Amino acid sequence: MKEILKYAYDSLKDVDPNDIGSTLKELTNMFPSAVTFSSSFSYEDQVITDFIANNAPEISIFTLDTGRLFPETYSTWNSTNDHYNIKVKAYYPNHGMLQDFIQEKGPNSFYESLENRKSCCFIRKVDPLKRALAGNSVWVTGLRAEHSPERQNLSVVEWDDANQILKYNPLLYWTTEDVVAYIRDNNIPYNILHDRGFISIGCQPCTRAVRPGEDFRAGRWWWEDASKKECGLHIKQ
Ligand code: ADX
Ligand code: SF4
Repeated sequence: MKEILKYAYDSLKDVDPNDIGSTLKELTNMFPSAVTFSSSFSYEDQVITDFIANNAPEISIFTLDTGRLFPETYSTWNSTNDHYNIKVKAYYPNHGMLQDFIQEKGPNSFYESLENRKSCCFIRKVDPLKRALAGNSVWVTGLRAEHSPERQNLSVVEWDDANQILKYNPLLYWTTEDVVAYIRDNNIPYNILHDRGFISIGCQPCTRAVRPGEDFRAGRWWWEDASKKECGLHIKQ
């Protein structure tokens, strides 16, 4: 892994890190057909989709359709496909695993225990993610430092040991104001839930709007201890 990280740093050393378009393009030159971006159609993901469409359209874009997303998120997916004339690739939970889990625990067991919640996230997100990343060398994400204290320790380019892949987090140091201004100035389709008090948006049963002054991720798994609020997509090992 150190070799690939070094190779990436060496190759990117002449690229301005603030120039996201050029960095994305350079990554596709380094790793042809092996750069992929995960979108949940959040504000930040829409910004990255715009950079990809305009600078490096060969980068594949996928989403993890948990089956429990908001109707507004599905609408954003549609308008994104239409706006950029693209087809975002969808990954789904393994039907056998999901069927057994729901049959055994019921459809809303995530409210009953942390263990059930983590199992649900594993089946609906983490396991499909492994399939989505297979065969790729670089994973582009919309992670930002403002999201949580843990995310403040990330790097723009880093090695993801859990998934054995190079991770590129282009908007890591963007503020919410930067993201909102980019969306507005470039007339980019976005999830209208952001206009209704939703900041971080995941699955419908596990996301609520936040009140002014509340923490960025207060609306995610709000019944749980703040230190547990990760679904397992971005776990450092
Ligand atoms: S999560 O770990 O809490 O679910 P969060 O919603 O903050 O993640 O999103 C951070 C990044 O993870 C997004 O910018 C995106 O790259 C990726 N991501 C999260 N959820 C999904 C999803 N359903 N499909 C694809 N990518 C996702
Ligand atoms: Fe299941 Fe909620 Fe995790 Fe979505 S966020 S996968 S519904 S526990």
